[in-house]
Amino acid sequence: MTNIGIIGAGTMGIGIAQIASQNEHNVFLLDNNEAQLKQSKSNLEKVLTRLLEKSKITESEKTAVLERICFTTDINSLSKCDIVIEAIVENLEIKHEVFRALEKVVSTNCILASNTSSLSIASIGSVLDHAERIIGIHFFNPAPIMPLVEIIPAVQTDDKVLTKAKDLIKSWNKTVVECKDTPGFIVNRVARPFYGESLRIYEEDIADFATIDWAMTEIGGFKMGPFTLMDYIGNDVNYAVTESVFKAFYYDSRFKPSFTQKRYSEAGYLGRKSGRGYYDYNDTSKNGRAKEDEILGEYIVNRIRCMLINEAIDAVFMGVASIEDIDLAMTKGVNYPKGLLKWADEIGLEEVLNQLQVLFDYYGEDRYRPNPLLRKMVHDKISFY
Ligand code: NAI
Repeated sequence: MTNIGIIGAGTMGIGIAQIASQNEHNVFLLDNNEAQLKQSKSNLEKVLTRLLEKSKITESEKTAVLERICFTTDINSLSKCDIVIEAIVENLEIKHEVFRALEKVVSTNCILASNTSSLSIASIGSVLDHAERIIGIHFFNPAPIMPLVEIIPAVQTDDKVLTKAKDLIKSWNKTVVECKDTPGFIVNRVARPFYGESLRIYEEDIADFATIDWAMTEIGGFKMGPFTLMDYIGNDVNYAVTESVFKAFYYDSRFKPSFTQKRYSEAGYLGRKSGRGYYDYNDTSKNGRAKEDEILGEYIVNRIRCMLINEAIDAVFMGVASIEDIDLAMTKGVNYPKGLLKWADEIGLEEVLNQLQVLFDYYGEDRYRPNPLLRKMVHDKISFY
């Protein structure tokens, strides 16, 4: 594939354009907002200058990367593309308009992809005359740095389209995982308890933010504690993802959003970007210190981890992705210290089941129900690897 089209020159679009151009494709980057195109070009120039200063690229590579990208507001410029990746606002109606217009311009064998995080690929492709060429190609932010890409064939997608899309993204040195067209795909589904169960532990007054973060990093081995991470992502953004996954799963209580997060979001305590989230970034003296109690720490880690593992097992049970791809997604997409299914094997599936069963017996809530596959594997004495 030579010519790559990208629609939307925002945070994701410009990152994907950079990757495609660095991999020597001709890139056609379309946005309907001229000012945004200019801004994105100038942002990319700054990124490339930094790479040059760090000797990661040469002056001529920098020039070539910029020259290979055609910044445009005219959809006809995409006519010769072999694949177009859409990365515009997360709105189904607007995406439909764009895909309808796009199909009039490109050839019938041009692959049409969406970088959507929360809409179904089937629904995006439904407006196409040739829906067999729709596919989800979900990058993580920042796209040039994050190694993981989730590839999502819709019910309409042709197998050849899937193979071509996977080969292309692999040729960009990305780690590719394949998953079913289900809400949250792999990462945004399996990771929910990292935030949700942490908030629940806080709401039950078992521990404060700093203590939960301390436990998850120092004892659990996670790179960042859940509250620090939510402050990075932004409480508004993280809450919106949680709410969208909850709705998409027909209000399954496992994905129930937290009132604490909603209130923090409503109050404008969005995290680092607003100077205050779960922590105060203007006056750090206001932030409480962790209570470094090993027994409490172990309890927190076991509780959040067994919920994460249960979610990873559910993704296997429901055929969302393979065991290997689920583990790859969580280590490469959100930097977990180990794949959750590998971790489950190490802890022992019987122990994971016990931890969940204790929570389920105590709370009597569906949220804590151990997955049937976990029960069966314990009964059959088998492991994931
Ligand atoms: P953004 O708001 O930074 O950029 C969207 C761009 O699309 C803007 O430049 C806007 O002018 C342009 N646009 C809007 N309507 C258009 C139209 N009709 N024609 C042409 N251009 C149009 O958005 P962002 O964050 O880059 O997200 C884009 C997509 O990527 C969304 O579907 C989002 O769910 C997904 N995504 C976002 C991630 C993130 O962390 N920001 C991560 C992974 C996926």
